[in-house]
Amino acid sequence: MDARDIRNRAFAEAENAANADALERVRVKYLGRKGELTQALRSLKDLPLEKKKEEGPELQGLKRELEEFVEKRLVTFGKEWKKERHPDLTVPAKKLKRGHLHPLSQVERDIRRIFTGLNFSVAEGPELETEYYNFDALNIPAFHPAREMWDTFWVEKEGSETLLMRTHTSPMQVRYMEKNKPPFQVIVPGRVSRYEATDQTHNIHFLNIEGLMVGKDVTLANFKFVIEEFFHKFFAGKKIEFRYRPSYFPFVEPGVEVDIKLKGKWLEVMGAGMVHPRVFEYAHYNPRDWQGFAFGMGAERLAMIKYNIPDIRLFYSGDLRFIRQF
Ligand code: DAH
Repeated sequence: MDARDIRNRAFAEAENAANADALERVRVKYLGRKGELTQALRSLKDLPLEKKKEEGPELQGLKRELEEFVEKRLVTFGKEWKKERHPDLTVPAKKLKRGHLHPLSQVERDIRRIFTGLNFSVAEGPELETEYYNFDALNIPAFHPAREMWDTFWVEKEGSETLLMRTHTSPMQVRYMEKNKPPFQVIVPGRVSRYEATDQTHNIHFLNIEGLMVGKDVTLANFKFVIEEFFHKFFAGKKIEFRYRPSYFPFVEPGVEVDIKLKGKWLEVMGAGMVHPRVFEYAHYNPRDWQGFAFGMGAERLAMIKYNIPDIRLFYSGDLRFIRQF
C-alpha cells in the first residue's frame, strides 16, 4: 500500500467532488470502515518493525489531513446549499415586473362583474354587422335623417347583405330578442366604429356597453334603480348625483340621456329609454305584451372619468408609459 498514491487520489477526488453526496462517497471510499486508508492502517500490524515506523506516522498524518479537508469542503457545500434553498430574507424587497390586463380590459371586466352581480347576462355580437340590424331593425330606415348620427365604415357588398362596421352594440337588441324569450336582462359589451375625426374624446373605435331589460312590467323606474346601482358600484365610495334629460334616439320612446355629477361637475354618460314598439315588432315580439328599457354607454368615457385620463386615444396608443400606470 503506497501512502503517496492514496494521498494523490484521495485529495484529487475530494477536490473534484461536485456536491456533498459525491464528497461523502469519497470519504467512505478512503476513510470508511472498509476504506482504503483504514485498511492500510489496519495492515500496518503485519509489517516489519522498520516499515511500521516509516509508514505508520505517514498514514496517520494522511488520515488526519484528509478528514480535515473533507470537513472544510463540506462546510462550503453547506453554505451553497443554504444559499440555494434559503434566500437571504434581509435583502431589500424589489417589485416584480409583471404584465397585466390593459386598463380598458380591466374596466370592461369591472362592468361585466357589476352587471352580472345584478343578474344580467352577457352577450356578444358581430363587429361586422348588417345594415339591417345596425339601422333598419332599430327603427332607423334608410331615408331617415337620424342615420346621420352614426357614420361608419361600409364594407363592399357580398351577396345581398350590405355590411358595415357596427356603430353601436344596439343591433344585439334585436338579435338577442330573436333568440331569447323574455323576461330577461342582458348587457352587450363590444368594440364599435365611427367614421369621424379623432380628438381627445372621440376615436374611430370605442368599447360600447349596451343594456336591455325586457319583461311584462319593466319601467323607467327599474332602469333608474339598475343604473344608479351600477354607477355607485363602478365609482365605489364616491358621492354621485343623477340627472335624466329627455333626448332622442330612434329605437326608444321616450328617450333619455343620463348625466352624473361627480366632484361638482355634471358629465353626460349614457343614452337610454324605453324600447320603441317598432323595435319589438322587428324582433317579432308583440309590443302590447312586452316592455323594457335599453341603454348604451362608452366604457372609455367611464374609465376616463374614474381615472382622470385626459385623452381617449391613450387607450389605443399602446404606449407602455400609460399602460403601466394601471
Ligand atoms: N346606441 C346609442 C349610441 O350609440 C346609445 C344608446 C342610446 C343606446 C339609447 C340605447 C339607447 O340602447 O336606448 O349613441
